Amino acid sequence: MIAGQEVPRRGSAVRPELLEEREESQERALRPASFDEFEGQESVVANLKLYIAAAKERGEAMDHVLLSGMPGLGKTTLASLIAKDMEAGFSVTSGPVLESPPDLLGILTKLARNDVLFIDEIHRLNPKIEEYLYAAMEDFVVDLLVDKGPSARSLRIAIPPFTLVGATTREGLLSDPFRSRFGVLEKLMPYEPEQLARIVARSARKLGVEIAPEAGLLLGGRSRGTPRIANRFLRRIRDLAQMNGEHRIDQALVVEGLTRLGVDRNGLDPTDRRILALIAAQEGRPVGLKTIAVAIGEEERTVEDVYEPYLIQCGLLLKTPRGRVLTPEAAKVVETWHN
Ligand SMILES: Nc1ncnc2c1ncn2[C@@H]1O[C@H](COP(=O)(O)OP(=O)(O)OP(=O)(O)O)[C@@H](O)[C@H]1O
Ligand SMILES: [Mg+2]
Repeated sequence: MIAGQEVPRRGSAVRPELLEEREESQERALRPASFDEFEGQESVVANLKLYIAAAKERGEAMDHVLLSGMPGLGKTTLASLIAKDMEAGFSVTSGPVLESPPDLLGILTKLARNDVLFIDEIHRLNPKIEEYLYAAMEDFVVDLLVDKGPSARSLRIAIPPFTLVGATTREGLLSDPFRSRFGVLEKLMPYEPEQLARIVARSARKLGVEIAPEAGLLLGGRSRGTPRIANRFLRRIRDLAQMNGEHRIDQALVVEGLTRLGVDRNGLDPTDRRILALIAAQEGRPVGLKTIAVAIGEEERTVEDVYEPYLIQCGLLLKTPRGRVLTPEAAKVVETWHN
């Protein structure tokens, strides 16, 4: 933004979509600007750097990349870092946004040579568009259908070589022909508390506050292995520090902040606890995904992508063919809530 330029006012600040926008722009401010700032995922980063260097040496676009992993682990960040290191343009779109082939065509024809096209939530791409992408990915052409009826013919248009970076939280939903067209397949794993502690330490500096090392570790251990969640908690705890007139976040402040957010010592939030309590109430009978979604007022997709992976990873939840059941460990955790 140009210095001194006014931010356009768009109605009252209490509109929820504005609050969401604000969260997003705050998140962008904390996004690593280089691979050096990107914590962890060492083998993924090492591979990407190697492929980028080799492609640059040849003066070619890098091979297409598919990044998979739970929400908030850094897929969008990595895609932007690939473009940056390639010294290439970066176009962003997402599966659900592309409704028809012309939407995709409009984007593809605007690309410059060796640009990076990032498609988020690529598993939600319309199958018709997926087919167009095949030719674009393999031969850098698109076949356009012109005219209708008997005079219909297809027109082949060349597009510049580009790198498609796809991100997905559900790699299993991608068709085999689609997945096989990516030369690089990388999976992001949850982060260790120590890594998240380093991420929040860096974020704290950017936010102009200090966080004690043991406080960072405590926060890291309760953030579901997810940088986005760790950074979000940090921002809320920073608010608390500010209102308390403190400049340094210590363990006590982390505990207070997380308690206010309803996050318990296992890193479970109120929704996680509702899911576990719901299943516990069935006394061993498996519970279906639909039931869980209705009970907590979320979409089935959100339950599967956001809540269940963490509960499964913690060893609290099991998916069986007949539905979801708790592990003996989870039953013990739920028991403690009644005491
Ligand atoms: N390895 C990392 N090191 C430092 N910060 C990170 C790292 N990964 C993610 N972050 C932080 O977490 C935030 C979320 O990351 P990002 O948006 O890249 O996740 P995502 O995988 O694209 O999530 P989604 O699936 O929801 O789109 C970023 O803004 C960044 O601040
Ligand atoms: Mg993303």
